[in-house]
Amino acid sequence: MIRKLSLRMLCLLTLSASPWALAGPPSAEMLSYACAGCHGNDGSSVGPSMPSLAGQQKDAFVIAMKEFKSGERPSTVMGRLAKGYTDPEIEAMAGFFAKQKRFLTGQNIQAEKVTRGAALAEKNCSKCHTEEGRTAKEEAGTPILAGQWLKYLQFQSEDYKSGGRKMTKNMGNRVKLLSAEEMDDVAHFYASVK
Ligand code: HEC
Ligand code: HEC
Repeated sequence: MIRKLSLRMLCLLTLSASPWALAGPPSAEMLSYACAGCHGNDGSSVGPSMPSLAGQQKDAFVIAMKEFKSGERPSTVMGRLAKGYTDPEIEAMAGFFAKQKRFLTGQNIQAEKVTRGAALAEKNCSKCHTEEGRTAKEEAGTPILAGQWLKYLQFQSEDYKSGGRKMTKNMGNRVKLLSAEEMDDVAHFYASVK
């Protein structure tokens, strides 16, 4: 009896010490459920203008969330949403999404634009968006572009061109060289990469 009682008391003590004593803090996967309505299951969005998060570079994800939170990066919904998460939660979700495979569903891509875009990307973008956008290096926070939704890439390109979304100086120098039409060709190219 005494043993039972003290066990119960121990449980009660642990419970009051931490709200997560029974279930543990929500896992990164559980946190990601809140994103699925827009970004798809495990981060593979069903499009067409909603970016996929699956396979995204960890630091690109973290920087994006922090910039949404601070308002530095313009957004429609993410600014408000990002404010609901702590830095450790953002780190945990970044780790989860980076490990997911990006599933491509049919995109409406024009072949002749892809061919032109491939050459332009190789010349202007491949230093940071490496291996045809499947990997990234050089600048911290460079995102994976391969297999991203075309509409999303087009919107971001327009935002960069108009100055609505800021970019690093080195990317800006490249983007300035390209016309809006050429940026659209490059968007077609990256969207087409498997
Ligand atoms: C209501 C729809 C919605 C929900 C829910 C949502 N997002 Fe987003 N997300 C967007 C939109 C739209 C954008 C494009 C930026 C904008 O306009 O806000 C975006 C962009 C992003 C980006 C930038 C992607 C890139 O490649 O540049 C990240 C990272 C992101 N969201 C993470 C999350 C995470 C993490 C969650 C869940 C905690 C989440 N989002 C929930 C709609 C949503
Ligand atoms: C010097 C390195 C560098 C070069 C060169 C570069 N980029 Fe980037 N790119 C970045 C970084 C860093 C970011 C993240 C910027 C941010 O969020 O502020 C980025 C972001 C992007 C995004 C946004 C993707 C997303 O998920 O939100 C697109 C689209 C993009 N780059 C296209 C291009 C294109 C097209 C070129 C060539 C014309 C190019 N980049 C050249 C470093 C580079």
